[in-house]
Amino acid sequence: MSIHQSNIKRVTTHQLQAMKERGEKISMLTAYDYSMARILDNAGIDVLLVGDSASNVMAGNETTLPITLDQMIYHASSVIKAVKRAFVVVDIPFGSYQGNSSEALRSAIRIMKEAGAHGVKVEGGSEIIESVRRILTAGIPVLGHLGLTPQSIYKFGTYTVRAKEEEEAQKLIEDAKLLEEAGCFGIVLEKIPAELAGRVAREVSIPIIGIGAGPEVDGQVLVVHDMLGITHEFKPRFLRSYADLNAVITQAVSAFIEDVKNKDFPNEKESY
Ligand code: KIV
Repeated sequence: MSIHQSNIKRVTTHQLQAMKERGEKISMLTAYDYSMARILDNAGIDVLLVGDSASNVMAGNETTLPITLDQMIYHASSVIKAVKRAFVVVDIPFGSYQGNSSEALRSAIRIMKEAGAHGVKVEGGSEIIESVRRILTAGIPVLGHLGLTPQSIYKFGTYTVRAKEEEEAQKLIEDAKLLEEAGCFGIVLEKIPAELAGRVAREVSIPIIGIGAGPEVDGQVLVVHDMLGITHEFKPRFLRSYADLNAVITQAVSAFIEDVKNKDFPNEKESY
């Protein structure tokens, strides 16, 4: 029986916290559209992230910077319509929360109201803590994001592993504690040494979801187009490929083209 036919309850931040406490790992994938979100929710994913990686995988941009708040709301509202169980978190895009905390709150409220999201994600620690606190005052669940934060790619200059040096590692630990104290319900740690990620997961009480952060964290997130092998260009070490949909789609489309060209499609049964 699929979860759409059953009375399965929605995942909440309280349940995610309880999962950390009992050592049950949290599964999280990105989603940007209705049809894919429906498949992922039906399969039983715990959290769906409407990531600003939509800028790369859906819109073909080189970075996450160009995507707008309106575009994120469009993606998020499509995902929300499909979901019956998963907790849906939406990235607040670059330029919609860093300026000041009132703008951050306005952006978060738009995402909650117009898309019907369950929470928002923001990148950064001490630099954006006022914005995080302000969003939380409105009762909006906030997921932090530390380590490799793609909205700051032009500051980093590369997509290489972050926090390998002691100073950056120390700041990351302090930022994680700051986000926890502020009231975030969890933190994504992207592309940092596994040992450091494990230390953060042990030292903060909220769930830590890793992407390229090793196994000692409370859950794992991947970009769905990458793990399904729809995108082939992006193959970092942390990515496990669970399917080669690129090959499956190419094969299906080639067969369709051949059938059309050979006048094999449609046949009599497929015609009125
Ligand atoms: O936008 C995104 O997909 C993300 C994940 C990589 C965590 O932030």
